[in-house]
Amino acid sequence: MNTIRKALIPVAGLGTRFLPATKAQPKEMLPLVDKPVIQHVVEEAIRAGIQSLTLVTGRGKQAIENHFDVAFELEDVLRRREQKRDLELVQTITHLAQFAYVRQGEPLGLGHAVLCAEHTLGQETFALLLGDDVFDDEDPALSALIAIHRATGKSVVGVQQVPAAHVSRYGIVNAPLQGDQGWNVSAIVEKPHPEAAPSSWAVVGRYILTPEVWGHLHQIQPGVGGEYQLTDALARLAQDGRLAAAAIPARRYDTGNKLDYLKANVEFALRRPDLGHDFLTYLKDLLAEKA
Ligand code: G1P
Repeated sequence: MNTIRKALIPVAGLGTRFLPATKAQPKEMLPLVDKPVIQHVVEEAIRAGIQSLTLVTGRGKQAIENHFDVAFELEDVLRRREQKRDLELVQTITHLAQFAYVRQGEPLGLGHAVLCAEHTLGQETFALLLGDDVFDDEDPALSALIAIHRATGKSVVGVQQVPAAHVSRYGIVNAPLQGDQGWNVSAIVEKPHPEAAPSSWAVVGRYILTPEVWGHLHQIQPGVGGEYQLTDALARLAQDGRLAAAAIPARRYDTGNKLDYLKANVEFALRRPDLGHDFLTYLKDLLAEKA
């Protein structure tokens, strides 16, 4: 019971934090070493038991659909050249899960993006993963949320503590009761001023949403930035006592932020058996040179 089979990943954002790289390509296709950010996020969902994924796309995002589709010409060339490893690498991506795509015609906010996929999700509880947030654990970040959903039956937000100066970048929930692994959320506010923030616990791009969210999403008005904010619908769930929070222990990278993106590349590369040793030697030499 309470098995979460479906996930939603909004990928319609313009990537304005990463220009000029994102002028003509989706930000979600930027690689961490050699694997696009979006594939890391999709694989996390699959490791948590998700079988079916809906991506909310927009203009200029075709590279994402192509990435998860059959690459006929490429596969043909690799087959004829007998590059079996590469062929397998390319084909595996197509068979990761079932994919569906819906379009968000206008960039009206995260709440609106989620609502665009209502007809594909119906009355089923689903996971929502934001494409900028990548976690580096073997145990998928989503698993912590699924456990809390199973225990409470509520919608769940994944949270981590952030520096007080950063609270205005996130949805912020009330502080946990001491010692709690998962806690009841009585307040959640989108991008508050530091003085008005209920705590420094920030929503970090992972959610479990029950069908109760749809009624609230239909009712919200434009909020912060003039956009339809998912957080405003979650605030209504919180008022009804229907929202919980789960702390995500894994290290997080905001790959839409240039410094975090660089850090993620370095750390993911150092962990690679084929690259790690040589890359570390290079970094040590470089640091010695700069010292
Ligand atoms: C969105 C959500 C915000 C959340 C954040 C996590 O904001 O609106 O509540 O904390 O993602 O990354 P965005 O980063 O799209 O401005």
